[in-house]
Amino acid sequence: MTKPFKVGITGTGRALPEKRLTNSDLEKMVDTSDEWIVKRTGISERRILDEDMPLSQLASKAAKNAITDAGLDASDIDLIIATTVTPDYLSPSLACSVQKEIGAEKAAAFDMNAACTGFIYALKVAQGLIMSEAYNNVLIVAAEAMSRATDFTDRKTCVLFGDGAGAVVLGRVEDGTGIDKVNLGAIGKMGSVLTIPCLYISEEDRARRSEGMKQVVWMDGSEVFIFASRIMSEATSSILKETGTDISEIKYLFPHQANIRILQNAAKRLEMSMDRIYSNLSMTGNISSASIPVCLNEAYEKNMLQKGDKLVLVAFGGGLTYGASLLTWSK
Ligand code: UT7
Repeated sequence: MTKPFKVGITGTGRALPEKRLTNSDLEKMVDTSDEWIVKRTGISERRILDEDMPLSQLASKAAKNAITDAGLDASDIDLIIATTVTPDYLSPSLACSVQKEIGAEKAAAFDMNAACTGFIYALKVAQGLIMSEAYNNVLIVAAEAMSRATDFTDRKTCVLFGDGAGAVVLGRVEDGTGIDKVNLGAIGKMGSVLTIPCLYISEEDRARRSEGMKQVVWMDGSEVFIFASRIMSEATSSILKETGTDISEIKYLFPHQANIRILQNAAKRLEMSMDRIYSNLSMTGNISSASIPVCLNEAYEKNMLQKGDKLVLVAFGGGLTYGASLLTWSK
């Protein structure tokens, strides 16, 4: 039965740490150069969370901004989904810590991990739960402290990642705008190309890391690069085809921010000009699942988004996972 409503983004928020780590700072730490990093990745600087600050504090700031932007109070939130690969604790979950910090006492709360695709996975879960009328207002908070899972002696990874949090509130919209479709996928058999061990580590993964380093990112960069360049355009093309949407109808593509060359490859394959592909990569680096909601909030604040605009959000990441969403902007 068709419902008289869809699920739309009713509020957005972000929070980035104050501290900046620039390419010239990294030049003093590993054998790299500003020129190499900018040319190969498009990144100039990233934000780093202070050592004594829990991620939950940054996540809560983004969450409060999104709730205020939605014109709601924390007490209106029914469910909090936090996406992260770098939670402060496995228990309590990041979502429960955010619930406490923002005072959303009636909200259920849980974490989910689909690595950099986490936000797209959470959109699908939230959409399903609101459409089924289980909940009215769902907060997704995507927060990452990637600097805490980085080996700052490994030049292949330490130049890529940063910290940050983005949040959205989702609720019913009755004007035809909102989420049109979300597609998700995973290729578990390729999981070993990007790993962050937790309580267990295989011998193979131990051997890939510096002595004494366990819970840090290891990545076969070029394998991930090839996968990402292909999947960004394929996932976008599929969702457009399945919804009967022409690419010319899309105002902006919001891709996961990992490497400017991946975005350029997607642009070429999709025959889209780069000015329709949102990017803040140079100032944030790769903030995993937080990258898309941070971009949405930035674009909204810059008045780039108007109600009725059609957008595609597309991400890929560890797992390997991927996902895309077609939506019509509701605010
Ligand atoms: O969110 C999902 C997670 N990750 C990604 O999406 C990342 C996907 N992959 C990438 O973005 C790229 O593969 C990287 C940026 C990681 C690497 O770029 P690349 O163009 O694929 O470089 P490469 O790994 O093929 O390395 C080329 C050279 C190597 O030197 P040799 O062996 O040719 O002498 C590397 O050792 O560049 C060297 N290199 C560096 N040189 C200076 C690697 N990292 C650095 C560095 N500074 N930071």
